[in-house]
Amino acid sequence: MQERLKELQTEALEKISQTSDLKELNDIRVSYLGKKGPITEVLKGMGKLSAEERPKMGALANEVRDAIAAGIEEKQKHLEEAAVQEKLALEKIDVTLPGRPIKTGNHHPLTRIIEEIEDLFIGMGYTVAEGPEVEKDYYNFEALNLPKGHPARDMQDSFYITEEILLRTHTSPVQARTMEKHEGKGPVKIICPGKVYRRDNDDATHSHQFMQIEGLVVDENIRMTDLKGTLEVFAKKMFGEDREIRLRPSFFPFTEPSVEMDISCKICSGKGCSVCKGTGWIEILGAGMVHPNVLEMAGFDSKKYTGFAFGMGPERIAMLKYGVDDIRHFYTNDVRFLKQFSIHE
Ligand code: PHE
Repeated sequence: MQERLKELQTEALEKISQTSDLKELNDIRVSYLGKKGPITEVLKGMGKLSAEERPKMGALANEVRDAIAAGIEEKQKHLEEAAVQEKLALEKIDVTLPGRPIKTGNHHPLTRIIEEIEDLFIGMGYTVAEGPEVEKDYYNFEALNLPKGHPARDMQDSFYITEEILLRTHTSPVQARTMEKHEGKGPVKIICPGKVYRRDNDDATHSHQFMQIEGLVVDENIRMTDLKGTLEVFAKKMFGEDREIRLRPSFFPFTEPSVEMDISCKICSGKGCSVCKGTGWIEILGAGMVHPNVLEMAGFDSKKYTGFAFGMGPERIAMLKYGVDDIRHFYTNDVRFLKQFSIHE
């Protein structure tokens, strides 16, 4: 019996040392130390022993049981510790690794151009004004010296909503609205960016919806030279100090005289290329001295006040500045196009 108990101890300790699995270890515990285990089985035979031997055998059985239990406990601690270490190793974080770059969006190229132009004019004392895109015929045309039936209305094919309401065809109605608010008192000095709509078929240079930036200055003693100087500062800041400007006579019903401004072509330095169509000059904007009728209709005394106005398309400016060859790129939201204007790369 003594031998059998020793044998069981060696056998159990051997199994314990060989296992590396917590579940298996538990099985060993159940099979050796459980009520139906071999030790209990051996002890059942104690009845046959003499009174002296019985307590000795009992003590030995307890020793064996304790040894196995201790072995299991030790092994369990060991395995649990190993499991924790393994988990830690798996979850190890290398804090010295550089972080993953966060993908950020960026401003649309047109927004950037508009903000750049706004900043430039804010720096010259202008404020930014806004007006509705769904506009009254009165502000879009009539108050700008374009009465109903005026042939120049044809220059701006319009989306009419009713007889009297349309999608504005230019940002010039904001001129009329702003002057009206000033109730005949200068100075007025605004820049107005916004969306405009025309019944054009979309192609590389036309879009039924595009943007304009309007500028307006009304005060006493505003002269054509003020307009020219302002536009020159704008052109050089926007396109480079080496650019020259040229004013050509033109016609707009709301300005008199009217001009169109060209800048010298940077690509060919004035020699003539495909971008400037061989002329050495690129058309940038329309401008002129505010027509006395427009001033009077908005409540200004045209004998006392004069003013200048200009209007340009940010798409055209962006196309020239960034070398974009199709206006539709600005509206189709192809990220491959937009990403090229990211300031984060
Ligand atoms: N509104 C004109 C256009 O859309 C541009 C312009 C604005 C011309 C202001 C002169 C003065 O064609």
